[in-house]
Amino acid sequence: MAAGKLAGKVAIVTGGAQGIGGGCARCLAADGAQVLIVDIDSETAAQNAERIRQAGGAASVMAGDVAEESVAAEMVDCAVEEYGRLDILVQNAFSGGAWMRGTAVEIEPDGWRAGMASLVDALYLGARAAIPAMRASGAPEGLPASEVGRIVNISSIHGMLQAPERLIYNVGKTAVIGLTRQLAVDFGPDGITVNAIAPGHIVTENMRKMWDEMGNDEGYRLFELHYPVRRLGTPEDIGAAVTFLCAPEASFITGQTLAVDGGQTVQLQENIVMDVKDFIVEHPDLKTHFDQPNGGVPRR
Ligand SMILES: NC(=O)c1ccc[n+]([C@@H]2O[C@H](COP(=O)([O-])OP(=O)(O)OC[C@H]3O[C@@H](n4cnc5c(N)ncnc54)[C@H](O)[C@@H]3O)[C@@H](O)[C@H]2O)c1
Repeated sequence: MAAGKLAGKVAIVTGGAQGIGGGCARCLAADGAQVLIVDIDSETAAQNAERIRQAGGAASVMAGDVAEESVAAEMVDCAVEEYGRLDILVQNAFSGGAWMRGTAVEIEPDGWRAGMASLVDALYLGARAAIPAMRASGAPEGLPASEVGRIVNISSIHGMLQAPERLIYNVGKTAVIGLTRQLAVDFGPDGITVNAIAPGHIVTENMRKMWDEMGNDEGYRLFELHYPVRRLGTPEDIGAAVTFLCAPEASFITGQTLAVDGGQTVQLQENIVMDVKDFIVEHPDLKTHFDQPNGGVPRR
């Protein structure tokens, strides 16, 4: 059996090919879990699985879109077939896009439904399929009944603080927190804990590319300035929080939302405004992705 605080545990990570999910898959494997990566991008997923194996871990891949109802049951079957059990489910998959921007008046009902299918329904379906398999697996050999299962849902600081004109994303990520709390209450008696993580701005491969294309270091530093720790996050920052929540030491933590955000959500906003004002005065030509015609976030 592999060494590490997650030795003997089997994990599914949705969207584990790259980005935050990629970091979660690597961290779980580094701590001894055997990991099934479920992703629509099977090529990149295979590369991450190979990276994990090269580092001495165990990982495999299933191609699938978690917004499709059948995929939840398929991924659970796949993990049990491959590794013989299921202990951990990390629900992370979501890439977003310009289609989900807008207010309640602007968003079409089909867009709303598609957004909720990916952001919320997929996590309900994942839990629905995984919990019976966790119960059937029981706690790994030698571990107490409090180790039957762990679910970690990736929300966002957008689930805690609302940004304008982001109805689908903000409501979806807030719903993830509600779903997490309900699952925690319903399945705590089974030895299954359910928690959410709310990441701040995480510099994934895609985010790195966007910032590099912007070619504006001042813009990047403006974003860092919003964070009391004066840096943006990495996928491994989230992976470290996920492995903690999945370890035996965290068995008394459930129903919680852990902001992994460099302190962004606890800082009084008026102080940020003044720091930002000074920075902009010093760097009048700075640009961020907000300035791109198809940039990440609308503003007004
Ligand atoms: N990056 C951030 O700053 C940030 C901040 C807060 C929350 N989040 C959340 O973290 C999660 C991951 O974000 P990211 O920035 O790492 O994204 P990313 O686009 O870098 O990676 C997402 C991964 O999920 C896969 N994926 C997307 N939709 C899928 C689907 N329906 N089924 C299966 N796989 C799918 C993609 O192929 C990709 O491998 C999302 O839930 C996102 O909302 C991200």
